[in-house]
Amino acid sequence: MIEVTDGFVATAGKAVVGWANLDGDEVDQLYVDPDAGGQGVARRLYETIEALARANGLDQLRAVASLRAEPAFRRFGFREVGTDQVAFNGLPFTVVRMAKHLDRPLPDQAVVRDGRGRDVAG
Ligand SMILES: CC(C)(COP(=O)(O)OP(=O)(O)OC[C@H]1O[C@@H](n2cnc3c(N)ncnc32)[C@H](O)[C@@H]1OP(=O)(O)O)[C@@H](O)C(=O)NCCC(=O)NCCS
Repeated sequence: MIEVTDGFVATAGKAVVGWANLDGDEVDQLYVDPDAGGQGVARRLYETIEALARANGLDQLRAVASLRAEPAFRRFGFREVGTDQVAFNGLPFTVVRMAKHLDRPLPDQAVVRDGRGRDVAG
């Protein structure tokens, strides 16, 4: 079976230093080369994914994060939904199910008024 997802890679020069997929409403396979870690690569990838999700009309994103990735997802605005134990190479491995609600921006023609009916939209 061929699975179709929207995938992105981050490059530095000719080297691929990270990648991430949007699979339905799930941020999947967010990985960054440790040598390129801590420099905002995951954030750039995530923001690209979130922009695509919004363009696709999604109102929520989900992720199943490793304990290593969980703090980064929190920084991206995700909250914990629960935890699971999964087997990886025969060893138990805790993963954190996370979700983020995507607030929809107001439509261009929307007007915000105060209690006196004054237009307060900036
Ligand atoms: C988790 C991972 C994707 C982070 O990649 P990265 O490029 O180093 O992350 P960034 O530099 O873009 O950091 C993203 C944000 O998370 C924060 N962050 C990252 N790790 C953190 C930690 N351990 N504790 C607190 N904050 C952390 C950063 O400060 C940053 O916050 P900001 O953008 O608001 O300033 C990367 O370490 C990785 O691939 N880990 C192994 C694979 C993995 O577990 N993937 C997840 C599968 S779901």
